[in-house]
Amino acid sequence: MADFEAPEALGEALLRWYDGNARALPWRAPPGEPPPDPYRVWLSEVMLQQTTVAAVKPYFAKFTETWPTVEALAAADSADVMAAWAGLGYYARARNLHACAKAVAGDHGGRFPETEVELRKLPGIGAYIGAAVAAIAFGEAATVVDANVERVIARLRAIETPLPKARPEIRRIAETLTPAGRPGDFAQAMMDLGATICTARNPDCAACPLESYCTASRTDDPARFPVKAAKKPKPVRRGTAYWLERDAHVLLVRRPDKGLLGGMRALPSGPWEETPSGDANAPADIDWTPLGTVSHVFTHFALELDIVGRRVLTQPDLKADWDGEWWPLDAIDDAGLPTVFAKAATLALAQRENDA
Ligand code: ADE
Repeated sequence: MADFEAPEALGEALLRWYDGNARALPWRAPPGEPPPDPYRVWLSEVMLQQTTVAAVKPYFAKFTETWPTVEALAAADSADVMAAWAGLGYYARARNLHACAKAVAGDHGGRFPETEVELRKLPGIGAYIGAAVAAIAFGEAATVVDANVERVIARLRAIETPLPKARPEIRRIAETLTPAGRPGDFAQAMMDLGATICTARNPDCAACPLESYCTASRTDDPARFPVKAAKKPKPVRRGTAYWLERDAHVLLVRRPDKGLLGGMRALPSGPWEETPSGDANAPADIDWTPLGTVSHVFTHFALELDIVGRRVLTQPDLKADWDGEWWPLDAIDDAGLPTVFAKAATLALAQRENDA
């Protein structure tokens, strides 16, 4: 497809709109002002990569209050960082965040490298975060492509190739549009446009500063773009999690660093498979009472997790090599349980109240 005849004019129209309509966000400088602290830009972009602005705000506030600098974050205990991330999902981001903070503090004197190429050598910094930090914090003309930008460009050019196959073409077009001046504002303007006007279901073309450049807006259904490949249904897996309670404490474990929910505190639980595997992974060989089932959808599968429980008066014989901690029930919210186990805890605690 031919490139835009005047990409500069499109960029200018977008920046003019941004000057009057940028969202005020805690990690952002107002349009045209000097960039914010690179630490805050990086932290916010890691959080925003797979999560909405509304969900990120309280986490960004908590992280910057607890760890105001990259050195402070680097020096934090990894269990505290993982617990503070609980509920945001995609926990590999938190492990990489901490590794990246340690690399910046340890190998770079606490200063983030200033180019996309150098940033991408750091743990957890891929194409998106590398470009976003380079453009927003350091003014490099790097091209930032997230789902919002993909949607805006797919509509501008009415791209019929479905996602994800259209990604290289979308990136190429995005590169032709990225201006040398104000690339950080341009990237954030594209994202704001996608989040507020060029939305997935109800684009408000009449309010769009790019309408005159947009091919999809001249069709009867602009929301048809981006075209998406048909989704396969997610497989369902089952598992069991164990709620073992003693003296107003519950037994928690820390999941191995590698794998799903790696490094997070959790209830003891066996593998999650198509066919449930019995109680081989229970913390103790005792009789368990079914408490209910929680459902949770992960990226690649849906989980049906049976919760079984037991309240004991004296510590049972835990299986050999069992490593756990007895966590006070009245502080369960501070354990940093990822959402699926927070749901399980809510269920178990509700049953407890019914028993009382
Ligand atoms: N989504 C991801 N990063 C963003 C940013 N800097 N501004 C708005 N939305 C975003």
